[in-house]
Amino acid sequence: MKYHFCGHSGLQLPAMSLGLWQNFGGTDDFRTVSEMITGAFDRGITHFDLANNYGPPPGSAEVNFGKVLTKELKGHRDEIIVASKAGHRMWEGHYGDGASRKSIIASLHQSLKRTGVDYFDIFYSHRYDGQTPVEETVQTLIDIVRQGKALYVGISKYPVQKAEEAYRIMQAQHVPCLIYQDRYNLLNRTPEEQHFACNKRYGTGFVAFSPLAQGLLSGKYLNGIPDTSRVRKGLGYLQTKDITPETQAKVAALQSLAQQRGQPLAEMSLAWLLSHEEVTSVIIGVGSLQQMDMNLKALDSPAFSEEERRRIDEITRT
Ligand SMILES: NC(=O)c1ccc[n+]([C@@H]2O[C@H](COP(=O)([O-])OP(=O)(O)OC[C@H]3O[C@@H](n4cnc5c(N)ncnc54)[C@H](OP(=O)(O)O)[C@@H]3O)[C@@H](O)[C@H]2O)c1
Repeated sequence: MKYHFCGHSGLQLPAMSLGLWQNFGGTDDFRTVSEMITGAFDRGITHFDLANNYGPPPGSAEVNFGKVLTKELKGHRDEIIVASKAGHRMWEGHYGDGASRKSIIASLHQSLKRTGVDYFDIFYSHRYDGQTPVEETVQTLIDIVRQGKALYVGISKYPVQKAEEAYRIMQAQHVPCLIYQDRYNLLNRTPEEQHFACNKRYGTGFVAFSPLAQGLLSGKYLNGIPDTSRVRKGLGYLQTKDITPETQAKVAALQSLAQQRGQPLAEMSLAWLLSHEEVTSVIIGVGSLQQMDMNLKALDSPAFSEEERRRIDEITRT
């Protein structure tokens, strides 16, 4: 595994991290969940990305991760980065959603209890909610660090102006924003145009989520919807309507480039993300150790030629 320093911090993160959004919940087979978490750790993936609402049911991914950490990974806590988040709907009423101090602190305490850890290594505001003043959310994150309930803090899915406001406040209080997390893949290159420059100015790292556009960039939907796929599971995150002819045309063109390079499309898609120095880590989401191993091959992928990069721009920027 390759490790990268996260922004200007002293924290190194593995180039590939494991996300527990789907496939790690209470409705999934616990043996497979446990195998994927311990298998990831054995392969050098030391960073696990959670959130209060990951499941289903919401909260169960934290519970499952906590069980594996206490039983299977006992004694390894100090070799592991446990990240969690608050900000999406988690419980009923006015305080179970959003980025207020009330919601974040209550959610943090619930998440600590579910996972059974004394502190999170990274704790995030999961999204900009459009209403809570950034100052309130960020002051809450700073206080969480000062209380020792998280070692570092980050933000996810903030418009770039709001992210910059957050970074400024945090810098002034000497609790810099460690990391920014957003969707980044060959079908969504927005962070390049918006957040990369801002992150660089403030020394904040970047983690890419949904690096395979939830599986679209594996090419698995080019010939229909496989029975075991995320779309077929019907949880509503990736739906048939997302598989548009335009997307399919881009995926098909990328697949043919991947073939010319002699690698599967998923591997090329991940390798391309990893080739950007702005990217500290790519958070993969897998349903099996086989998928994890296929994806890890991207770490040893051949470099991209100028011509290949130009072709990728041509396909993805239209
Ligand atoms: N901050 C946020 O708001 C936010 C939002 C979303 C995600 N995240 C984080 O990012 C993580 C990853 O997101 P994601 O799950 O959307 O990532 P992704 O890599 O885009 O999609 C993962 C899915 O793609 C399919 N897949 C993966 N490797 C494959 C391979 N080699 N061949 C064929 N199919 C493959 C699997 O789906 P199948 O079931 O179809 O096999 C897998 O569950 C999450 O777990 C979470 O930690 C954060």
